[in-house]
Amino acid sequence: MNAKALFIPTMISAFFFMGCNNNPQSAKEGSTGKTKTDTVVVSQGINSKGIGRFKDVPLTHPLDNTMAENGKEIYGAKCSACHKLTDEKLVGPGWKGVTDRRSPEWIMNFITNTEVMLDKDLAAQAEVVTCLVRMPKQDLTDEQARQILEFMRQNDGKN
Ligand code: HEC
Repeated sequence: MNAKALFIPTMISAFFFMGCNNNPQSAKEGSTGKTKTDTVVVSQGINSKGIGRFKDVPLTHPLDNTMAENGKEIYGAKCSACHKLTDEKLVGPGWKGVTDRRSPEWIMNFITNTEVMLDKDLAAQAEVVTCLVRMPKQDLTDEQARQILEFMRQNDGKN
């Protein structure tokens, strides 16, 4: 038996092992024969909307400066202890480029539904591994979350 013949079955079993968790959704996908690969790619990319109420967050062009100013104030009071505005990590990831990495819906869902996202969203879970800390739940209104998103867009030079 050559090395390749061994390598492929090993990869396949490693893949199924990784996909095996206690999430009933993936158990169902397994039994219907749908592959896990699709889920992984969609959940981690910019197209992922994350998990929560926000399914469609409309953006304005140019962005809304008043909302961004309010978002900046909330950032200073509640987020700056753990997040820098550069791409440098503090306790959590730096916010520079976050609007290129994540969809508006993902960001809004993460801010308002942090615990569920950290438990179930693959991209959010990957960050816990990198940061070694779970972001605490933030008690913000939907409006405040939207203002923070606008501030993130401003910080990323979006218009
Ligand atoms: C005690 C530290 C802490 C505070 C305070 C905090 N965060 Fe976080 N945040 C984290 C950590 C750590 C992560 C990475 C995910 C994880 O490990 O839980 C994170 C991740 C994020 C992400 C995802 C970033 C990305 O690059 O994908 C967003 C968005 C976010 N936080 C928003 C906020 C907002 C908005 C506030 C303030 C209202 C805030 N955070 C306050 C620690 C914090």
